[in-house]
Amino acid sequence: MRDPEVISTDGLSKRFGERIAVEELTLAVPAGEIVGLLGPNGAGKTTTLRMLAGILAPTSGTALVDGLDPAKEPERVHESIGFLTESPGFYERLSAERNLTYFAAFYGGVDAHAAARNGIEQMGLAGRGGDKVGTFSKGMKQRLALARVLLHEPRILFLDEPTAGLDPEAARNLRELIVSLKKEGRTILLSTHNLTEAEELCDRIAVFRTRLVAIDTPGALRDRQFERRLRVRLASMTEDWLAALRAEPFVRSVERGTDGALDVRLADPDRDRPRLVTRIVEMGGQILEVREVERSLEDVYLSLIEEATE
Ligand SMILES: Nc1ncnc2c1ncn2[C@@H]1O[C@H](COP(=O)(O)OP(=O)(O)OP(=O)(O)O)[C@@H](O)[C@H]1O
Ligand SMILES: [Mg+2]
Repeated sequence: MRDPEVISTDGLSKRFGERIAVEELTLAVPAGEIVGLLGPNGAGKTTTLRMLAGILAPTSGTALVDGLDPAKEPERVHESIGFLTESPGFYERLSAERNLTYFAAFYGGVDAHAAARNGIEQMGLAGRGGDKVGTFSKGMKQRLALARVLLHEPRILFLDEPTAGLDPEAARNLRELIVSLKKEGRTILLSTHNLTEAEELCDRIAVFRTRLVAIDTPGALRDRQFERRLRVRLASMTEDWLAALRAEPFVRSVERGTDGALDVRLADPDRDRPRLVTRIVEMGGQILEVREVERSLEDVYLSLIEEATE
């Protein structure tokens, strides 16, 4: 079998009273993929993860996680998944290892002591396992939280804003751990509003605001709705040149930016870029710089979210 879907939803929806938190979410995540749920505050990311984890019943629609319906068999789903929640709880006055041993004991068939020691080791907390959790930094607590959700070796992970509130180094550290979890073949659904994080970690990004706005690879999302444009800076410029460039069949449009640089859209940027340069040089133009305008994922995200709001 090729790429069996391990997480899928069909029209999954959740209302809280009058408020619709998640509307008609249809999604399929094949084994081994990291999919990012990217959306603003209140978009319904946590609600979606909680429905998939069998913690919250959907108002309508269905989900399948590892072949199980979380609304019908939440306990069995809990055995297949690890859910890193927004605020994982620990016994602050117990040691890290003692906490992990305690939580591991809930899972049948798990050697709690071995799992706890292994978790401490794997999350780079060796040497601190005997310390009280209350003395841990936020980054260390978050790594411990990841260790906790891995105790029963789940193949599926739901990570709700795993790096929220961490400093850049701690966040990077955690992202590296997430990458290593993916390399072990785990399927990961990760909620975030950090675009860099989504781009770095995720095979596909689901832009989400109550409804699914778009789902694609980070690269495809970036290319999606914006045409590629070139910025051309010249030593000097005349209106005649502008008119001449606009008359070229391979030039779709030329605008002059506030900084004096030209903003050029070409029929085919890869093919026509040398032609554009040649044409400008022929006219006696001195080119200081030609570069492609970079579209950040943030631009795309913001415009998608804006469209979704309208
Ligand atoms: N238990 C609840 N009772 C009532 N409303 C809820 C409940 N849980 C969530 N909501 C509402 O559902 C919507 C989605 O909330 P949710 O927590 O899923 O958003 P989110 O995308 O995780 O946001 P954030 O980025 O802030 O974590 C919000 O309007 C929220 O107020
Ligand atoms: Mg949330």
